[in-house]
Amino acid sequence: MRRNVGGATHRGFLYVRTDGTTRLAPVRSPVIRSAKRWHGPDDFWVSDDPTLVDLARVHRWLSTQSYWADGRPYDVVARSVRDSLTLGLYGSDAVQVGVCRWVTDYATFAWLCDVFVDPALRGRGLGTFLVATATAHPEVKDLRLQVLATRDAHDLYRRFGFEPVAAPERWMERRR
Ligand SMILES: CC(C)(COP(=O)(O)OP(=O)(O)OC[C@H]1O[C@@H](n2cnc3c(N)ncnc32)[C@H](O)[C@@H]1OP(=O)(O)O)[C@@H](O)C(=O)NCCC(=O)NCCS
Repeated sequence: MRRNVGGATHRGFLYVRTDGTTRLAPVRSPVIRSAKRWHGPDDFWVSDDPTLVDLARVHRWLSTQSYWADGRPYDVVARSVRDSLTLGLYGSDAVQVGVCRWVTDYATFAWLCDVFVDPALRGRGLGTFLVATATAHPEVKDLRLQVLATRDAHDLYRRFGFEPVAAPERWMERRR
C-alpha cells in the first residue's frame, strides 16, 4: 500500500512503503505541480504550465534568433521545456511572446536559461516582468544557488540579485 507524503510543492513525489521506509514515487517526471499564473503590464501574463508552451514558436526563437542555441533541434527544445520549470509569457490573446526556464532539482540548485522575448515587443518591460516572475517563483526563489550566463544583459539580472560569480576559479564546464 502506498501513502503520499509529498510536501506542499511536491505532492505525489514520495510514498511510504508498508515497511515504513520512504521511496521516490515510480513516475518518470517526479515533479507534480499545479500550474500558476501571474499578471503583468498591458494584460500580459506568465504561466508555469508547460502544456501552454508553443513549442514551434519557442523552437524558432531559440534555434534561429538566439546566440546560444543556434540550430538546437526541435525535440531537444521539447524535452528541455518538458523537463524544466518553464515559464511562458503570453498576451491577452494567449499568443506566446516570451519564454524562460529554470533547470532545477527544486532542492539545492537552479539555472535560469533560454530567456527570450519576441523581438517586436522588447524594450517595454516584458523581459523585466518575465525575469521578476521567474526569480520570485515559489519553488525556486529560496534555493541556495541560482545561476545564469549572459553575454550582455547583466544589468537586467543584477536587478534581481544576480552578481558575477564570486569564485570563478572553482567552476568548470564540459561542452559537447
Ligand atoms: C534580454 C531580453 C529578454 C530583455 O527583454 P525586454 O522585454 O527587452 O526587457 P525590458 O524591456 O524589461 O528591459 C529590461 C532592461 O534590460 C535592458 N536590456 C535588455 N536587453 C539587454 C541587452 N541585451 N543588453 C543590455 N541591456 C539589455 C534594457 O535596456 C532595459 O533597461 P532599462 O529598464 O534601463 O531600460 C530580450 O532583449 C531578449 O529576448 N533578447 C534576446 C535574447 C537574450 O539575449 N536573452 C538573454 C539571454 S541571458
